[in-house]
Amino acid sequence: MPRNFDPFEKFAWPIARNFMPDKNLPLVEFIDIWNSVMHDLISSQIPVLPYVPERRELPPRVLRVRTAWRGIESILADLIQRFRVRGGRCLEFGVEFGYSTAALSCFFDELTGVDLFTGDKHTLDQRDIFSETSERLFRFRNVRLVRSDYRRWIARDHTLYDLIHVDIVHTYVDTFTCGLWSALHAPCVLFHDTVSFLEVRRAVSAIALLTGKRFYNFEESNGLGILVS
Ligand SMILES: C[S@@+](CC[C@H](N)C(=O)[O-])C[C@H]1O[C@@H](n2cnc3c(N)ncnc32)[C@H](O)[C@@H]1O
Repeated sequence: MPRNFDPFEKFAWPIARNFMPDKNLPLVEFIDIWNSVMHDLISSQIPVLPYVPERRELPPRVLRVRTAWRGIESILADLIQRFRVRGGRCLEFGVEFGYSTAALSCFFDELTGVDLFTGDKHTLDQRDIFSETSERLFRFRNVRLVRSDYRRWIARDHTLYDLIHVDIVHTYVDTFTCGLWSALHAPCVLFHDTVSFLEVRRAVSAIALLTGKRFYNFEESNGLGILVS
């Protein structure tokens, strides 16, 4: 399907003509208008393809911890086979108690999990959980946990991965920033909460538009966006 790779050309004209907000508008309102103009343009251009798994099976590492990810572990084998994801290196942004980390680690030689381990405005738990999560995952020898802000990590890491999972704070700007970097560093990127957070879904659409990747969506378990080349 042909795509416009110069999105600025398209959304520049309504702004230049009648949509230019009053220069005295507060910054937050200006960003909201900008986001909505961008979103209208993006949503009309990016098809969201339904992801329907052909089979479901539990991987061997399933933790008994609180998570909104439950259900996705059972489609990983199907997804990895469908999109021909290689089993070398996996990177995850957003580990929390380790549910997705443990499940994903069943399919890769090595997995690096990056998290602040102090929660965010959308998580129920804002304690420091680095030690308890590290102890829980210690037995999985191919898993390495790093306490870091994703911004610090992406400023320094120039390597490539086979798959990256993004499940951090669910704002548009953080998902877009982390997700765009991820889409440039892996052929397959997963985004959790594309159904429960509209901002996440919008950010994934924008990344698909900018990178020319296909956007599949699994509607269950709060939604899993899948960007593939
Ligand atoms: C929704 S939880 C992750 C859930 C997990 N993937 C699971 O399987 O249940 C989001 C996590 O993102 C982390 N986080 C939020 N903002 C972050 C940032 N700027 N950099 C790194 N991690 C962040 C939080 O500490 C929290 O543990």
